[in-house]
This record gives sequence, C-alpha cells and structure tokens, in this order.
Amino acid sequence: MKNFINLKDIPAKDLRKILNDAKKRKKKRKKLSTLDVDKDRPLKGKMLIQMYEKQSSRTRLSFHIAINQLGAGSIIVKASELHLGKGEESLADTAKILSTYGDGFMLRTDSDKKIEDFSKNLKIPIINLLSPSSHPCQVLSDIFTVEEIKKKPISKLNITWIGDSNNVLNSLIATSVKFKFQLNIGCPKNYRPPKFIMNWLKKNKRKIKVYNDPKKAAKNADVIFSDKVVSLNDRANKAKKIKDFKNYRINSSLIKCAKRDVIFLHCLPRGNEVSEDVFLGNKSRVWQQALNRVHVQKSILLYCFEKLR
Ligand code: CP
Ligand code: NVA
Repeated sequence: MKNFINLKDIPAKDLRKILNDAKKRKKKRKKLSTLDVDKDRPLKGKMLIQMYEKQSSRTRLSFHIAINQLGAGSIIVKASELHLGKGEESLADTAKILSTYGDGFMLRTDSDKKIEDFSKNLKIPIINLLSPSSHPCQVLSDIFTVEEIKKKPISKLNITWIGDSNNVLNSLIATSVKFKFQLNIGCPKNYRPPKFIMNWLKKNKRKIKVYNDPKKAAKNADVIFSDKVVSLNDRANKAKKIKDFKNYRINSSLIKCAKRDVIFLHCLPRGNEVSEDVFLGNKSRVWQQALNRVHVQKSILLYCFEKLR
C-alpha cells in the first residue's frame, strides 16, 4: 500500500504512471454514464472513508464518483460528528477503527501534522484531500488537464502562476521539479514562496522565476493558473491582502501578454482574482479541469492500492 500525501515525496515515475493510467481509463469511459463501473472493477469490495474538516464541493463529489467507478464503496464523514472531532477519542484509536472498517482513508484538514499522525497510525493508505501545505490531487489532475489540452508533455510548456503562495502553488512547485517544467510566478513582494521552498528547489537543481510584475510573469505563457487570494486556512488580514493583490487580477489585458493559445486554469472556488470575462471566456478550461479530477483521482486510488496497470 502507498500513501498520497505530498507530491514532493512521490517519485516522478510514479506520478507519470498515474497520469498514463488516467488517460487510458478516461478514454475507455467515453460511452459510459457517470456511475457506470469500469469493466475491470479494480477496487471491488473496498470501503473508502472520506473525512472533511473543512468545506469542499469538488473534491468530495469527484472522489465519490471516482470511488464508484472503480467498483468500491464510500462513506463521507464529518470530523465534527466523530468522537475524534469532539476530542473524546484519541487519533490513534480512531486510526485503528478506520483501519478495521475501511480499506482507505482520505482527509481534508487544516493540520499537516494530523495527516502525518494518521499516516503513522493507520494500516490503510491515506490520501491528502487538501492541507495547509499542499493540494496534491488537485495539482496532479491539473497537469493531466494541461497535457490533455496542449497535447504535449508539460516539460515543453511555460507555466505561469499569478497569485498567493499557498497550498496549490506548493504542489505546483513540487510538480515543476518532478516533471521539469518552466514555472513563472507573479505575486506581490511580501507573498513570494517561502525560503524553505526556494531552498528545496535549489537542492533539486530547479529554478522558478518570481516576478513582482504580473505582466512579466505572464509573458509567453502557455498556461496561466490562479487561485483565491485568501485560502480557507489563511489567517491574514483579508482586506489588506486583497488590496495587496489588487494589481494581480487576471483580466483580458494580462491574458494578452501570454501566448495567443494560452489557457486559463483555476481550481475553484474563485474570488475576485480573475475577471468574469476571463473566467468564463474562451481561454478558460476550468470546467474540464474540474471534471478531470474524477479521472486522475481514480488512478491515484489505484496507485495507493498498488493496482496501476
Ligand atoms: N478545488 C477544490 O478542491 O475544490 P473544493 O474545495 O470544492 O473541493
Ligand atoms: N488555496 C485554496 C484551495 C481551495 C481548493 C484553499 O486552500 O482554500
């Protein structure tokens, strides 16, 4: 069994295997309906438990579909309804119980330590459904979407991120090392990726470019990514932060700095960081991006159960 916690800790060849599997599986489902099970029912009989300590629309729904398509069953639990959430049961006991009833555990939480503690106590795989430090399922799926649309390996593309240095960007940076692509970041000075991430890049002999001018960051981009300025776990002064990002809004004049066939991606939910015309315009692929979560997460599950073809 394997965990899926942080992309930086997963070998590049395994990430590529997940993407290849997702491509094959997606192709085979063209004529099937949402809840039709894949012919090989690779996770038949498995019980998967998803737990959310914070809001989610896409992750919970796309995993629900993914699990069903693999022939497994799932339950979604709210942390606040468990004894663990109320502090009446220890994490170790809860992990034992999850391992007794379940075959896999998936967790969205505000605590990276909690994921780590669970991983030490569980006897079943754990998948990170978003934590303060990363959003691995989202970003691996986004790499899939980029390659699907551009019909090229991501290593041949210029990727730009305009926005905050948050969990999604951390995962994108991790993939820039794994898949060796050029990553430009546009953000205000005080919101640059932290030093430990820059050091990690250095250790891995990769460079990213960080610009204060969003137009410079967007120049020649094949893909522009963004995300909310204020993330769910963000304790910053929201009004100030939004003001600080005022000149980083992705609008049609910023899009013009990129290549003519640039695409715009955003994991959603969105805030004011992107104009309505760009978000809903002909460069945007955000709905295809959201749908692909289903396909890639299926292959992530198969990776965890060591069932990738
Ligand atoms: N992109 C994403 O993870 O969305 P949710 O927060 O709705 O799950
Ligand atoms: N960075 C965002 C992503 C939401 C899917 C957050 O953590 O809230």
